[in-house]
Amino acid sequence: EKVIFNGSITERSQLNIDIEDRGYQFGDGVYEVIRVYNGSLFTGEEHLQRLIKSAESIQIKIPYSISEMKNLLLKLIEENNLYLGIIYLQITRGVSQRNHLFPSADVEPSFVAYTRELQSPTEAMEKGVTAITVEDIRWLRCDIKSLNLLPNLLAKQKASEAGCFEALQHRSGAVTEGSSSNVSIVADGKIKTHPATNLILNGITRQVLLDISRKNGLEIIEEAFSVEEMLQADEVFLSGTTTEIMPIIEIDKQKIANGQPGLVTKQLQALFNEKIK
Ligand code: PDD
Repeated sequence: EKVIFNGSITERSQLNIDIEDRGYQFGDGVYEVIRVYNGSLFTGEEHLQRLIKSAESIQIKIPYSISEMKNLLLKLIEENNLYLGIIYLQITRGVSQRNHLFPSADVEPSFVAYTRELQSPTEAMEKGVTAITVEDIRWLRCDIKSLNLLPNLLAKQKASEAGCFEALQHRSGAVTEGSSSNVSIVADGKIKTHPATNLILNGITRQVLLDISRKNGLEIIEEAFSVEEMLQADEVFLSGTTTEIMPIIEIDKQKIANGQPGLVTKQLQALFNEKIK
């Protein structure tokens, strides 16, 4: 199995990650998860642009251009014969003696990427999944795709222990997003999703969703909604790179509408499938 390590393709077994890599010690870095469909990157450009933006937000300058990274990723897909799966990539501030201060400017960021085979969650997308609500205890820069995911992990674990798929986070009652997905509702024939502020990650799948909705005459508005509004909605669904478009049929043990995936959600799934073919 091949991986990318600092600009070149290497055997995974040959990797040497330093104990003082700042990603390892501080979570001092950013990441992306990109879908691979039919052996090619889905919205690769958008993910790499977001990676650069996330890195810049924490003052990491990535020493590779988008096209260099893209070429490396495509080579990795080919070397690993990946047809359907994901690429994980992360950039950290590099290796330096542990110190809360940034290292000197000559320290190069570490860049790793690897592939994994992953099917689309077909069955869950057909049947729908359940969720819980949790207080959003994250920091105020959720727009940065930072390696620091502890609150997300705690939320997801709590959901799993309740037998649910996802935890829907809210700040004093205003729904933000899932632990690793964005969330939207359908009410009065309109789709609503949280605006792309500092309180959520502006998902690439969310952006695809905005685009396909508008192109197909579905009304979608970027406006925050309350937990109460969500529970009363006609439909609730998640969007994300690994989640795709996922109906939520029950939240905090309460059925959403009749407890079945809704028509708008199904329509969006069909439109999304057209895009990824
Ligand atoms: N998570 N919100 C959060 C907090 C996320 O972690 C993610 C993605 C999303 C959806 O973003 P996108 O559509 O760009 O994948 C929203 C990835 C898949 C992960 O951490 O595994």
